Amino acid sequence: MTYRVIQWATGNVGKLSIQAIARHPELELVGVWVHDEAKVGRDAGEIAGIAPLGVSATHDVEALLALDADCVMYCPLPWQVDEMCRILESRKNIVTTCGYHHPYIQFPEATAELEGACQRGGVSLHSSGSNPGGVSERFPLTFSGWCSRIDKLVITEFGDCRHYEAPGMIFDVMLFGKTEAEARAGFMLEILKRCFYESLDMVAAGLGVAIDRYGFEHQVALAREPITTAAGVIETGMVAAQRFRYWGEVDGGPHLETRQVWVMDELPFTRFDRPWESERLDGWKIHIEGDPSFDVNIDFPAHYTGRQRTRDGMMATAAHCVNAIPATCRAAPGIKTYLDLPMITARAGRRSV
Ligand SMILES: NC(=O)c1ccc[n+]([C@@H]2O[C@H](COP(=O)([O-])OP(=O)(O)OC[C@H]3O[C@@H](n4cnc5c(N)ncnc54)[C@H](OP(=O)(O)O)[C@@H]3O)[C@@H](O)[C@H]2O)c1
Repeated sequence: MTYRVIQWATGNVGKLSIQAIARHPELELVGVWVHDEAKVGRDAGEIAGIAPLGVSATHDVEALLALDADCVMYCPLPWQVDEMCRILESRKNIVTTCGYHHPYIQFPEATAELEGACQRGGVSLHSSGSNPGGVSERFPLTFSGWCSRIDKLVITEFGDCRHYEAPGMIFDVMLFGKTEAEARAGFMLEILKRCFYESLDMVAAGLGVAIDRYGFEHQVALAREPITTAAGVIETGMVAAQRFRYWGEVDGGPHLETRQVWVMDELPFTRFDRPWESERLDGWKIHIEGDPSFDVNIDFPAHYTGRQRTRDGMMATAAHCVNAIPATCRAAPGIKTYLDLPMITARAGRRSV
């Protein structure tokens, strides 16, 4: 069976998603939505930096909703719940990097809207990515299967963000380039918090428990001088490094925690206004204390440049979703998390693409 897929938005993740769809033997790209008028009419393969695929990008939502397709790979920024509902009601499944990976507790209103639209359309919604959507929930749960007891589970993402060419993500979502006061109090901080509490909720659900108390800590460092990044300049005195800790306590059960250490400098961090320690610049670590206890480290090849590492992290984000499209299309209608879907693997793929 071949599933017909529409790519929605062609930013950093969306472009790599087109590459992943083109390589996947069970998927066929049949449409592309772009926000940027300058991309309208361009071939999807050309936008994605590969050979032409014979599919032109459009800004015409109605035309895409009317198209015969099985699934939309939804990657815009900002995303819109009402737009997602319209796609679902047009009888197209959605796989997305835009959140709602386990939304039931943190986003009950969006859950009700999206679940209703899934039922009306007879289709499913699955959200994933690298983090959230992978390293904060799916992979620790997989490794938890080695344990007879879990006391503590800490996931850490180390992100060198200098090469992430996405101003909206860097300055609006990830809170870089803001004053310390803005970064500590913004609406987006609340969204980030609930998004990573979602990850903890999914781990708890996978372990058969529920979180009794949530906790949060946010440390920042400011730029001592202007720092040039792919997304723009971080001006002197603005946020240039952040350490987020989100945790959940289960009474009589484990401590669950996910951390993000995002920086805009290289080790040993000479351009920040205060001492800043970090054991590494990028990659991920899963730390489990229990019986047994162990660490899982995920690294890129040592010789990779920062730019290549950023690109590969984005491909992990895109591919994790694209590889989930067949299972999402086959699932019974509704919001589907990794706890509902079968194991997601790569397909060996079309290696020539
Ligand atoms: N879970 C994870 O691991 C993970 C990791 C990274 C990103 N994400 C999420 O994935 C999504 C895409 O991230 P990205 O890195 O690809 O971001 P990006 O490079 O900024 O791309 C976002 C795209 O959205 C479209 N867009 C721009 N303005 C828009 C508007 N006003 N309304 C609707 N669409 C607009 C544009 O598409 P066109 O260029 O086609 O016009 C733009 O390229 C984001 O929602 C982000 O939060 C998740």
